[in-house]
Amino acid sequence: MTRHRLPKATAIAHSNIALAKYWGKKDETQNLPATPSLSMTLDALHTTTSVQFVERLEEDEVTLNGSRLTGEDLERLSLFMDRIRNLSGLALAARVESNNNFPTASGLASSASGFAALALGATRAAGLELPRSEVSALARLGSASAARSLFGGYVALELDALSAIPVLSGDGFPLQLLVCVVTTLPKDKSSRLGMGHTAKTSPYYPAWVASAPAVYTRIREALLAQDFEKLGRATEHSALLMHASMFAADPPLNYWLPTTLALLARVTELRGAGLPAYATMDAGPHVKVICEPINTRALAAALELVPGVKQVMVCSPGPDAAVKVEPT
Ligand code: DP6
Repeated sequence: MTRHRLPKATAIAHSNIALAKYWGKKDETQNLPATPSLSMTLDALHTTTSVQFVERLEEDEVTLNGSRLTGEDLERLSLFMDRIRNLSGLALAARVESNNNFPTASGLASSASGFAALALGATRAAGLELPRSEVSALARLGSASAARSLFGGYVALELDALSAIPVLSGDGFPLQLLVCVVTTLPKDKSSRLGMGHTAKTSPYYPAWVASAPAVYTRIREALLAQDFEKLGRATEHSALLMHASMFAADPPLNYWLPTTLALLARVTELRGAGLPAYATMDAGPHVKVICEPINTRALAAALELVPGVKQVMVCSPGPDAAVKVEPT
């Protein structure tokens, strides 16, 4: 029997940076976070992923930034593709090509935009047209932060929620986020392993989980009230509470480099000098600084001068993830 070629779907999803952090899992099988999170989707950092299910292909063929995935990386992707195969009833392997326009796996949220683009591209390539919330729930199973990258602007993944929800459009509070890149090397411990280790060994982990909901609420309220100072203070607090839980792990989990600390000190100094800005860090050494657009230029110029900073990328709130299906 000859079958029609299946369509190729190409999705683009933007990465996101959490202001209220997710760190730790309540349910590992369902990949449900132990803390509620709230992020800004970034216009400047994105993943483009094309997916096509192909007849007579033995196993999924996945290329990330021009290199073929093998071993555990391929396995994680194939397990995710199995969910799409189960949902759609399609038993074929897929050819997946994915490209980031920023350094992969170095704490710039590549798994967020990566799994969001894959969930959207793969469902459409399999002929499924799911509501956005269901695509977000699927992306969550790949990487919980990816649930948030299906939506633009400011997005929350609430406690026990299966999918993320948009909280405010970018225009609702047009802040900017300066990504201060400290290294282009990949990090040595993924978020997944890092949070598992923190949960298992850090005496501060329960305190982090207990304090996160109140910080999340402060961030959400500040965002909706467009209160930059309240938002910034709570954002820094969330990041430092999370990193404190990592530092207290045994052995300690430290993603920071000397430049990370130099940037934090500089942000505090600039704030004292009348340039309001607040910092956040993820599972990597980079520092992300939120600010109001009126101060972006002066802040970016000052942060570029911090020794060890490779690049400062200016990001605004980004759009919803999008997909295009090529007719066959
Ligand atoms: C520090 O979403 O990468 O960036 O669900 O295990 O894939 P998995 O983890 P991941 O963790 C992100 C952690 C963070 C904070 C955040 O984005 O909320």
